[in-house]
Amino acid sequence: MAEQLRMYVDGEWVEAHDGATFDTIDPATAEVLASVPRATGPDVARAVAAARRSFDQGRWGSAVAERERSRLLLRMAELVRSQRDELVELEVRDCGKPLADARGDIDEVAFMFEYYAGWATKISGDIPPVGPDAMSLVVKEPLGVCGLIVPWNYPMLMAAQKVAPALAAGCTVVLKPAEQTPLTALRLAAIAEEAGVPAGVVNVVTGFGPEAGAPLLTDPAVDKISFTGSRDVGVMIQRTCAEQLKRVTLELGGKSPNIVFADADMAGAVPGTCAGVFGNQGEVCSAGSRVFVERSIYDEALDAMTAEAAAIRLGSGLDPATTMGPLVSAEQRDRVLGYLEVGRAEGAHLAFEGTAPSDPALANGYFVAPAIFEATSNDLRIAREEIFGPVMTVIPFTEVDEVIRLANDTEYGLAAAIWTRDITKALRTARAVRAGIVWINDSQPAPSEALWGGYKQSGIGRELGPYALDAYLETKQIYINLGAS
Ligand code: NAI
Ligand code: MG
Repeated sequence: MAEQLRMYVDGEWVEAHDGATFDTIDPATAEVLASVPRATGPDVARAVAAARRSFDQGRWGSAVAERERSRLLLRMAELVRSQRDELVELEVRDCGKPLADARGDIDEVAFMFEYYAGWATKISGDIPPVGPDAMSLVVKEPLGVCGLIVPWNYPMLMAAQKVAPALAAGCTVVLKPAEQTPLTALRLAAIAEEAGVPAGVVNVVTGFGPEAGAPLLTDPAVDKISFTGSRDVGVMIQRTCAEQLKRVTLELGGKSPNIVFADADMAGAVPGTCAGVFGNQGEVCSAGSRVFVERSIYDEALDAMTAEAAAIRLGSGLDPATTMGPLVSAEQRDRVLGYLEVGRAEGAHLAFEGTAPSDPALANGYFVAPAIFEATSNDLRIAREEIFGPVMTVIPFTEVDEVIRLANDTEYGLAAAIWTRDITKALRTARAVRAGIVWINDSQPAPSEALWGGYKQSGIGRELGPYALDAYLETKQIYINLGAS
């Protein structure tokens, strides 16, 4: 019998009001890991009311000194570090990623709380000059109650990426983890509780998007929604939130270009390009899945990338030798397999396809082996649509201007990678690409101190660094008349 977990609402560990539950599974084996509450409207309303009360009564936010908020965030970071191995294993089991990747995630979660603990005491306003007879104080205030809806590809990291800046800014939160991966979000709640964060400040409701996520969008007591996930759900969230003019931050998908110029250092470009598509099983919003290779090195680069892909070892994320785990769910596996069919039907050449693990213990796992398509056109669906799996589409190019045009020929604009030894070409291309993040001679680093977010249909707003704080703050002007009368 699977362990029955509870969710965290108003400082209490609770079941759903009707006792409903659902199972979360290990995608490497399809075995049930635990059952969690299946929250619906009344449960979400309770969590929102708790977050509202704790905000309005000043149990956090403006009435709690910044130093105290900072101290509690540091305490959360310490607890994440002290539970690192457990959290890593839980993350691997729940979402399938390899151990090394999960370690990277959990270490960054700890750092993210440290980083935003620092910011909690450094959010300040301004005093713009308004003439000798008045003073104007521009102050930053916490935005209020935030509904945080996160996906399953970096479960705890995505949760921390929203919870840490929201708490630093003084907001209270209701976190809705993805239904595929609720376990580390529940642990994050336990860590907040153990750290001494007051009841109602952090609430976690587990459940499905339309049942446990959607009520956050329409509850008037929620001031802000921050969402990471699919473009289509993002559009729906923006539309629904418009009714109440709720603040919205969206971090959506991408079809990010990865440009390999002929003068690139291939010893870095080949593994970097492959890691940018195949890392985390390709379940990455910023994956560099459209690979443009300069024609003069095309054959050589394709061979090298094929060899790199062939060396990928699929298996259970818990096996230290594994470099690619299963996809998160049967649904996601089927979606990605569907794109392999689409690519073939569109006439793209399947230059490489890896093999699924042979271990009978993993026979029910949701494995999809890495694949490399060669395409001659950026118009194919496999070059335009987000696949969110280990599928690379390689397209040759000849001129710099041509590849910039191709790179920008997408509805998305999350990220781009550029590989070249020519600094001028690198920077000119970086400036010309319409994307929120551009890597030069690298792919995928996302330091918490910097910035994350997309142009065009990849999203609205920015996360990470000081930029994330703006998403959780309102700005107020206080005008003081200093005139004689
Ligand atoms: P999704 O967008 O449905 O799920 C993301 C989160 O949104 C989950 O917590 C889900 O429960 C919630 N959600 C879903 N419907 C909702 C609704 N009506 N109201 C409120 N919340 C809702 O993504 P899904 O279906 O899991 O994956 C589909 C595709 O989305 C993937 O193949 C990939 O292309 C993209 N995706 C992008 C991510 C990113 O990092 N930008 C992360 C996950 C998926
Ligand atoms: Mg979904």
